[in-house]
Amino acid sequence: MNDEKLQATFNQQAASAYDSQWARLAPFRVALHLLATAILAELPADARILCVGAGTGAEILALAEKFPAWRFTAVEPSGPMLEVFRRKAQEQEQEQEQGIASRCTFHEGYLDSLPQGEPFDAATSLLVSHFILQQDERAGFFRGIRQRLCSNGILINSDLTSDTDAPHYGALLEVWMRTMAGADLGQEKLEQMRAAYRRGVAILAPEIVAGIIASGGFDTPVQFYQCGLIHGWFARAA
Ligand SMILES: C[S@@+](CC[C@H](N)C(=O)[O-])C[C@H]1O[C@@H](n2cnc3c(N)ncnc32)[C@H](O)[C@@H]1O
Repeated sequence: MNDEKLQATFNQQAASAYDSQWARLAPFRVALHLLATAILAELPADARILCVGAGTGAEILALAEKFPAWRFTAVEPSGPMLEVFRRKAQEQEQEQEQGIASRCTFHEGYLDSLPQGEPFDAATSLLVSHFILQQDERAGFFRGIRQRLCSNGILINSDLTSDTDAPHYGALLEVWMRTMAGADLGQEKLEQMRAAYRRGVAILAPEIVAGIIASGGFDTPVQFYQCGLIHGWFARAA
C-alpha cells in the first residue's frame, strides 16, 4: 500500500472509530499481548521498546502497564492514529502512578525518518507488514527494524497470513469474515475488507512470512500465535 492509500485508510475518521470498531474482537488482541508480554519478560527493567505501526497504541498501553519502567518509541505514519494514542497516553498519565505519555516518544512518520539513537532492546510490529505488497520491500521493512535493535534484540511481529492457494483457505476465510462481522464495521466495510484481502493486503503463507522476517536479519522466527488469519512470531536479531 503506498503512502497516499495508507493515509486514506488510516485517516481522521478511521482513527477516531478504530478502537470502538474493534472492541468486540478484543480477545484476539488481548491474547496476542498476553503472549508478547511473556516473550519480552526477560528484558531489563529499564528496557527500550520500538513500536512500528503503533496505531492507536494498544500494544504500548498493554506493555507499559505490565512493565512500569520501560520506555517506548511509537513510530506511526498516520497522524490521526498517533494523535488518538497520544490522547489516551496523556489520559493515563493523570490516572496512573507510572504514567505512560512521559515514557513515550511519539514519532509521526515511517521508521527511516526516526532519528538514530541508542539501540532498542525489542521491537513490535503488529498487523503492519502485510500492508507492504512487494516482498523485497517487506524484507527491507524488517531490515530497518533489525538495524535499530541491539544484538540479540527481540522482534514481535504479527500479520494476516494464510496460504491463499491452499484448498482450506476458502473455508477459513468464510469463518474469518463471519468473525469480522462481529466487529462494529457494517456490511460495506466488510465487503471492502474482503476486496482488500485480494488486492491491498499481502496475505502470504506463514512459512513465506517467516522467511521474509528472517531475510531482514533475524534468526528463524518462532510462531507463537494463531487466531484465524492472524499469525504471530518472535525472532531474535541475528
Ligand atoms: C492495523 S493497524 C495496527 C495498529 C496497532 N499495531 C495495533 O495492533 O492495534 C496498522 C498500522 O500500521 C501503520 N502502518 C502501515 N504501514 C506502515 C509502515 N510501512 N511503517 C509503519 N507503520 C505502518 C498504519 O498507519 C496503521 O496505524
